[in-house]
Amino acid sequence: MTTKKKPRVYITRKLPDAVETRMRELFDAELNIDDTPRSAAELVAAMQYADVLVPTVTDRIDAALIEQAGPQLKLITSFSNGVDHIDIDAAARKGITVTNTPNVLTEDTADMTMALILALPRRLAEGARVLTDKPGEWAGWSPTWMLGRRLFGKRIGIVGMGRIGTAVARRAKAFGLSIHYHNRKRVSPATEDELEATYWDSLDQMLARVDFVSVNCPSTPATYHLVSARRLALLQPTSYVINTARGDIIDEAALIKILREGKIAGAGLDVFENEPAVNPKLIKLAHEGKVVLLPHMSSATIEGRIEMGDKVIINIRAFIDGHRPPNRVLP
Ligand code: DGY
Repeated sequence: MTTKKKPRVYITRKLPDAVETRMRELFDAELNIDDTPRSAAELVAAMQYADVLVPTVTDRIDAALIEQAGPQLKLITSFSNGVDHIDIDAAARKGITVTNTPNVLTEDTADMTMALILALPRRLAEGARVLTDKPGEWAGWSPTWMLGRRLFGKRIGIVGMGRIGTAVARRAKAFGLSIHYHNRKRVSPATEDELEATYWDSLDQMLARVDFVSVNCPSTPATYHLVSARRLALLQPTSYVINTARGDIIDEAALIKILREGKIAGAGLDVFENEPAVNPKLIKLAHEGKVVLLPHMSSATIEGRIEMGDKVIINIRAFIDGHRPPNRVLP
């Protein structure tokens, strides 16, 4: 009997203990115990001997890196739903299969999107700061103090009605918002009926009519600055913009400008154009109560991360066994 050699799997970040234990059992796994982000040079070095690379959204796996990979590297199985950090075309040219971890972050991301939708008009972050930042200064209830805006009966415009967009729509409907969406194609009539959703072929027209814009599409060359300065100018002064997808889908400088000019009501952002750097002007706007900022944590649940790990393992095992990995991402 011959024992099959375990594949060498290089994992770029610290993963939940349960995932790492399973990885160690199944593979010749090189873990990142102290979670120090790997440099491009370290990644290139690993790509000379690893059979499988497991990057995350914090690793830029661009064409230059992929071209330097050794011939043994045949699989990049990203510990992420989004794959905008990987040059899929370059990987395909090099004969490297790419996989991701879809479906397991949907509900968690939609929950956080809804949390931002609630937090903005009801001034949740501002209210919480009154008690923690200036203890003792709260003078008690007053009929005219800390008034926000009612959520019930407002309109939400969802940009990207995939799994996450649909999950956001379900939550928003339960809170009494009417659902509007823009997507490359219409969702099924059954889903439209369930959500009582209005489809807008024209993103511009939808933006001009909604109270909340929720960005839920993937970051691709086609969606780069999809919410541009021109489109932001179409919003009503009472509108809020929420982004839990990727920072570069919105022109961040234009968003900051329009917020500073008071031409929209506010923004809730979990993602930024130059993560982990956050534009200081956004931080100032947060102190002024105009934006709520989160550090890319919409999908951050223990359950979600373990399920992401399970998906990574399933994809590696399928590939090693000569099957098509279930979550293959095509160029
Ligand atoms: C993903 O996986 O795409 C998320 O944004 C990271 O949490």
